[in-house]
Amino acid sequence: MSTPVSEAVTLTLRRPDDWHLHLRDAEALRAVLPFTAARFARAIIMPNLDPPVTTTVAALSYRGRIRAALPRGARFEPLMTLYLTDETSAEEIRLARDSGAVAGCKLYPAGATTHSAAGVRDVANLQAALEAMMEVDLPLLVHGEVVDARVDIFEREARFIEQVLAPLVERYARLRVVLEHVSTRHGVEFVRSARTGVAATVTPQHLLFNRNALFAGGLRPHLYCLPVLKSESDRRSILEALAAGDPRFFLGTDSAPHARHAKESACGCAGVFSAHAALELYAEAFERDGILPRLAAFAGEFGADFYRLPRNEERITLVKQSWTLPETYPFGDTELVPLGAGKPLSWRLQSAP
Ligand code: NCD
Ligand code: ZN
Ligand code: ZN
Repeated sequence: MSTPVSEAVTLTLRRPDDWHLHLRDAEALRAVLPFTAARFARAIIMPNLDPPVTTTVAALSYRGRIRAALPRGARFEPLMTLYLTDETSAEEIRLARDSGAVAGCKLYPAGATTHSAAGVRDVANLQAALEAMMEVDLPLLVHGEVVDARVDIFEREARFIEQVLAPLVERYARLRVVLEHVSTRHGVEFVRSARTGVAATVTPQHLLFNRNALFAGGLRPHLYCLPVLKSESDRRSILEALAAGDPRFFLGTDSAPHARHAKESACGCAGVFSAHAALELYAEAFERDGILPRLAAFAGEFGADFYRLPRNEERITLVKQSWTLPETYPFGDTELVPLGAGKPLSWRLQSAP
C-alpha cells in the first residue's frame, strides 16, 4: 500500500540559484547541464575552460552553447564570468558590463586549481581591471588560495586572505568580492568581519565532510577538490555562519565534473561533481545540523541580493523520501562518479530528471 501524498513531509522553497558552477563544454556540458537546470533558475558559470573564457566575445559564445544544450522546455539562465589574466584591460571589463551577460570576473591565482595556468601571476597586474570593475560594479570572484608549494596545503586559504585578499578588499574599497568555496574558520571569520560587499559561497562537500573523509579506509579521490576538505573545526565554523543566517554566505556548489578515469589516477584531478543532487545534499547537511529553516534564504535569497538580481518567484519542492544515489552517471563516452555515490539521501526533488 502506498503512503497517501498528504502524509509526505515536503519542503517548498523559492527556486534556488547556484552561484558557483562548472559546466565544462561540448559533450560534458550536455551530460551535466540537465541536473542544474532541473533545480536552479540561474547559475554563475565558471570560465575555466581550455582555453579560458577571457573575453566578452568568448563569454557570449559560451553562453550560446549552454543555452543550446538546455533540455527542451527548461528555463535556466547562465550568468557568465570572465577569467582574469595579467592582461585583462579596463576596456574588456566595460565591454563585459555593457554586454549584460557577464555577472562577475574570476580571479584564479596561476597554478592554484584546474585550468588555472593562464590565471593571474601577480594581483598588482590587475589594477586597471579591478578599478574598472569597481567603477562598473562588476563583482570579483576569487579562488582564494596561495600557490606557493612550500605553504602547507591546509593553510593556503588563510595565507591568501592575509597576503592578497585583505589588502585587495581595503584597496578597492567599493569592489564587491566573493571568496568562493570558503573552507576554513579563518575564511569564515574574514568574511563575517569584512566591510560590506564581501561574501562567500559554500559547497555541499565542505558542509558534509571534513578531511578525515578523504582517507576513510583508503584514499577517496572523489572527495578531492580545491580547496581541499579541512578540519572538523573549520567545517563547524561554516555551519555556524549558516546557523546564524548570515546573508554573506550563500549557495555555490562548485560542482566540477571530471571523468572517472581522470580522478581515479596516479595524479587525480581536483573537483567534486554534485549537480546531480545539489539541493538535496544541502538539505541533508542543513537538516543534520538542525538548521533546515535556514536553507531557503541561503539557497534562494542571499545570493540574488548580493548580485542585485531579483529573487526567483517560482517554487521548488523537496520530498522527505530516502533514495540511493546512483554510483555513476554517463559523461560523454565515459562516466562520472557523483558526490555521495551509492549512498542514501533523505531528500528527493519532486520530478527530478
Ligand atoms: C574546479 C574545477 O575542476 O574546475 N575544481 C575544484 O576542485 N574545485 C576548479 C575550482 O573551482 O577551483
Ligand atoms: Zn576554485
Ligand atoms: Zn570552482
